[in-house]
Amino acid sequence: MDAVPIVTIDGPSGSGKGTVSREVARLAGWHLLDSGALYRLVALLGARAGLDPQDVDGHAALARSMEVEFGSDASGGERVRVGADDVTRAIRSEEAGQGASRVAAWPAVRDALLERQRAFARPPGLVADGRDMGTVIFPAAALKIYLVATAEERALRRYKQLKQKGSGANLAALSREIAERDQRDSTRAVAPLMPASDARIIDSTGMSAAQVVEAVLSQGRSLGLWS
Ligand code: DC
Repeated sequence: MDAVPIVTIDGPSGSGKGTVSREVARLAGWHLLDSGALYRLVALLGARAGLDPQDVDGHAALARSMEVEFGSDASGGERVRVGADDVTRAIRSEEAGQGASRVAAWPAVRDALLERQRAFARPPGLVADGRDMGTVIFPAAALKIYLVATAEERALRRYKQLKQKGSGANLAALSREIAERDQRDSTRAVAPLMPASDARIIDSTGMSAAQVVEAVLSQGRSLGLWS
């Protein structure tokens, strides 16, 4: 087991990892690693810098050198900054998500982000959200969760999320994008999306976020990670 206790929460796009990880970290008083945000940032900053979308070395260099600051806003929501630039909204666009999925398939980019991700492990503990948290980044984590939900339910959740934020959304297009992203993330050669052999699988289809959070908290409680 790691010196600092770690809980990993992996799963496909729209499985609810982000919401659940944030809430579990908040309730436990632990740190949070949103690893998807790092891949989204590499894609976003690459596009802003005018990098060729196929420029692997250029994106890997960005992944190594970018200065990111993760914080929270007044209501506990995510706040991501690169220098003075607030990129919280920009990294959440579907375009940044698709770009992230593309750059995430490159081993050089994954390597460049490896130590940066491990550095998030600080006392009293870390909740790490992503695709390969339990398989590659924190293989000795105390608790590994793999969250799944049907593709229909995941598309619907994204749709509602985008609507709530006031962004335009099209359910059929979202379903297509989720299916495409699943396919790319789970068939890539390096760190493909899959549960660790010792992960506990939670199917969140038909469950509320609060119910999933409680399921994770109860698993952690039974391991003595928190009270
Ligand atoms: O979780 P997310 O939607 O923010 O992730 C965006 C993309 O980044 C996703 O399609 C795959 C990639 N990703 C990854 O390959 N490994 C991670 N640990 C996290 C995200």
